[in-house]
Amino acid sequence: MADTKQGELRAAQQEEFMPIKNWDHIEFYVGNAKQAAHFYETTFGFVPIAYAGLETGVRDRASYVLEQGKIRLVLTSALTGDSPIARHTMEHGDGVKDIALQVPDATKAFQETVSRGARPAMEPTVSEDSFGRVVRSAIYTYGETIHSFIERDDYAGPFLPGYRAVMPTDAQRARQAGLAAIDHVVGNVELGKMNEWVEFYERTMGFTQIIHFTDEAISTEYSALMSKVMQGGHGKVKFPINEPATGRKKSQIQEYLDYYGTPGVQHIALITGDIIQTVTQLQAQGVEFLPGLTTYYEELTDRVGKIDEPIDELARLGILVDRDDDGYLLQIFTKNVQDRPTVFFEVIQRKGARGFGEGNFKALFEAIEREQELRGNL
Ligand code: FE2
Repeated sequence: MADTKQGELRAAQQEEFMPIKNWDHIEFYVGNAKQAAHFYETTFGFVPIAYAGLETGVRDRASYVLEQGKIRLVLTSALTGDSPIARHTMEHGDGVKDIALQVPDATKAFQETVSRGARPAMEPTVSEDSFGRVVRSAIYTYGETIHSFIERDDYAGPFLPGYRAVMPTDAQRARQAGLAAIDHVVGNVELGKMNEWVEFYERTMGFTQIIHFTDEAISTEYSALMSKVMQGGHGKVKFPINEPATGRKKSQIQEYLDYYGTPGVQHIALITGDIIQTVTQLQAQGVEFLPGLTTYYEELTDRVGKIDEPIDELARLGILVDRDDDGYLLQIFTKNVQDRPTVFFEVIQRKGARGFGEGNFKALFEAIEREQELRGNL
């Protein structure tokens, strides 16, 4: 699937104009950041590390920064009704505003992407406090979502200037469930728009396409979608992009678009080194996962061959398995994390495999469709 030679060449070219160090953080705009922070702390086991709001001199918003492993989430709410953050949550519900990337030079990242046609969201801006200096800039991607570029080599503070450090309690630390890093962030775009956004990432950020899933590969009796996976930062950053495909009934991607109102982030996949332990703990802490099907596990060994994990354990937890040329992966998906059928999370453990669980799409989409049907949207 991956065209290695061409991919390496393009990666080298990308290194020249748009180097990316890693994910920086994911910022959600939510209706009530204080309560959302509590949810991600108690159920997903994130720990609070920083806060900005009225008490720190920020007048228009409150932001809670949470961390687990290398994953940083920021939950932000408006403090007044006339704020653009308030309008964003009214239109989209709780959702991802910013997929922020760490770069060596945020000014150059802005210039390079904007000169290649990206729509600017924030000009390069320097902010400083006693911990040092950060440069930020941002461009728009699909819908109202943005990519911030964060240059923080000269910064030693808890998050960004303007934030104060928060010390997690022992109880909060004990809830950490082994979530280690972001694996990929998936966007849903409108019918017919997938290739436009694939081309956007190629042109403006030098990303390469690593996988293409056609609607024949990803379809069930009812629902269908198409997906292409874009990769940058020498494989550190992966953005699958989905568009709805025509099926007998409404695509899950179309359901998302109907409720989010625009293209946006569908799911965030988080890596663990021990999915059985992580999912066991997350379930005990109240994370709701999509249930597996008994028949799935009866056929599992025939499909993926021998694996290290006991199948009865996987079946009990609803963890899915897929194999590709390089190894296998284990994955599970949460239910939507807000009332609108929009954003959810994936927990993934990679044992060699570099794919996205293509062999599970049918089982997964049937599970999603059962939920969609309960909502009257199938
Ligand atoms: Fe995924």
